[in-house]
Amino acid sequence: MVLGSGAREHAIIKSLSKSKYEKKLFCIGSGHNPGIYKLCQHYTIGDYNDSNFVVNYAKEHNIKMVIIGPENPLEMGIADALLTSGVEVIGPRKELAMIESSKTFTRDLQKEFHIPGGPKYCSFSNMNGVEDYIGDFGDDFVIKYDGLAGGKGVKVFGEHIHSKSDGLSFCKDIISEGGSFLIEEKFIGEEFSLMSFCDGKNIKHMPVVQDHKRAFDGDVGPNTGGMGAYSPAPLITEELNEEIMKDIIHPTLAELKRRNIDYKGFLYAGLMINEQKIKVLEYNCRFGDPETQPILMRMKSDFLSLCLKAAKQELKGVQIDWDDRFALGVVMASKGYPEKYETGFPISGLNGENETTKVFHCGTKIEGEKILSNGGRVLCVTGLGGNLDTAFKNAYETTSKISWDGAFYRKDIGKRNQ
Ligand code: GLY
Repeated sequence: MVLGSGAREHAIIKSLSKSKYEKKLFCIGSGHNPGIYKLCQHYTIGDYNDSNFVVNYAKEHNIKMVIIGPENPLEMGIADALLTSGVEVIGPRKELAMIESSKTFTRDLQKEFHIPGGPKYCSFSNMNGVEDYIGDFGDDFVIKYDGLAGGKGVKVFGEHIHSKSDGLSFCKDIISEGGSFLIEEKFIGEEFSLMSFCDGKNIKHMPVVQDHKRAFDGDVGPNTGGMGAYSPAPLITEELNEEIMKDIIHPTLAELKRRNIDYKGFLYAGLMINEQKIKVLEYNCRFGDPETQPILMRMKSDFLSLCLKAAKQELKGVQIDWDDRFALGVVMASKGYPEKYETGFPISGLNGENETTKVFHCGTKIEGEKILSNGGRVLCVTGLGGNLDTAFKNAYETTSKISWDGAFYRKDIGKRNQ
């Protein structure tokens, strides 16, 4: 059973559905997803953050294993509740999901154990000393809400805030709502993501992905959950990848392990490179969205078999096979996203899937014969190709045939370094 109903979960379920193993697939989603619905024996709309509901559902349907997609159920301890009731889970326990849900937890861990790539930072739960601390950074600071904020909790000076007083008012807003925040040194460089599959004892990293977070072409406009992603990212060599694993990811997981709890699931490292030096922007305790769509399009190994092996802590010696081709995903969104947008528009051109291009649903619903837009991010069209240009062409050929009132998408996914 998969928890979650976005394009990431659609990609996960699509990969599971291709497995050679006999299986029944279930999904609990927060809303409709006609793409997932088609692939599952049972699709239920329900509150996957409610442990009683999820555990009872799992028992009732004799679920053997649950893959948790989004961060909220992980933060809510759904993995713990399922494990207690005897269900295998891919997704870390609440205490380790803090690597995403508490920025202070993660920065303290990096600092305490001298793991490279962390910034100069300080955590605050009131305004005492904030102004002075910001003053020390000149213009190069970042403010991070210390909790989950759906991508809206990070304010970078020069991008989202343009004066110290903007920064101070963001901090005051957080405090007035009873929250806390960190002020960090700002890193400069190029961002990329490195996701790993962990079974508590063994770690397998996946190919590097780059996503585009800004809403509009040329990396301008507001930050979003991600407007597209591609893999592999030519920027990062396999040697560098191995170095990051050795110097940063393995030590981080080793420190988590000292808490005597196995980290079983996906670990997403948001990284930045500048002059071959690697910095850690953040960790997420799950697969990325839209990064998962191109990554799983490239995975040749049986994903369900990998999950079963991870559940038994048997990833050691397992080789994950990857398609040598590039994969590139384009997110199609509703006009106005990531701010206010309207939904309910009929979508046309959805029959363009072929051998090399798949259409993953994020925010759609079915009404009679029609598929309607039903969210901010609506679809993620992902193409494979022998090089980045062919993957680009394949993804955009299908994207350009899909339309609804107010649809928009970036036209430059994968063009960052060209
Ligand atoms: N694409 C960024 C994330 O999944 O957090």
